[in-house]
Amino acid sequence: MKDNIILIGFMGCGKSTVGKVLAKKMRYTFLDTDQLIENQQRMSISKIFERKGEGWFRKIETDTVKDMMKNTHKTIISTGGGLPLDEKNSEMLKSLGFVVYLNVKRETVLKRLKGDNKRPLLTGDNVEKKVEQLISYRDPIYQIGAHLEIHTDNMSVDKVAEEIIRNYEIMQKKGPCFEKARFN
Ligand code: S3P
Repeated sequence: MKDNIILIGFMGCGKSTVGKVLAKKMRYTFLDTDQLIENQQRMSISKIFERKGEGWFRKIETDTVKDMMKNTHKTIISTGGGLPLDEKNSEMLKSLGFVVYLNVKRETVLKRLKGDNKRPLLTGDNVEKKVEQLISYRDPIYQIGAHLEIHTDNMSVDKVAEEIIRNYEIMQKKGPCFEKARFN
């Protein structure tokens, strides 16, 4: 397994926040797939959805993962919430490094993303319902795509980062057949 850590999970689960702290603690590089796409396209994610559509965005996400497969080491990668839903993407992530699912409850997402207008999938009416439906559809997919799942709702960012490091070190000693662990 390559020496990267990949964070997956629903919008607002803390992938970028935890990822930056983790990168600092481990002295790894930090990458955010949404940020890479925005820089490359010189457009915000919202504008990409509006002008090119979600399907086009998903293709660019896959290209971004393929690019990362070429030469990414000692890097913490924060992924867009929909990226692992494509099976091919999910498989690539697993061979790119240690994949950690940051599980988050619907209420936490709603609290954190209140007033947010940067997520095109959560705009308009019935945001609560949208979050609920998306989480219940995606949760099993995130689980299958991860080596480790952490229930983050009542944990500090530091604690989440420490749990990831602890398990990453175990995995490095034991090898890729490390069994999935759960916390909460
Ligand atoms: C999406 C999540 C977003 C971004 C886009 C679509 C999703 O990233 O990629 O708005 O489908 O869950 P974050 O998970 O970083 O918010």
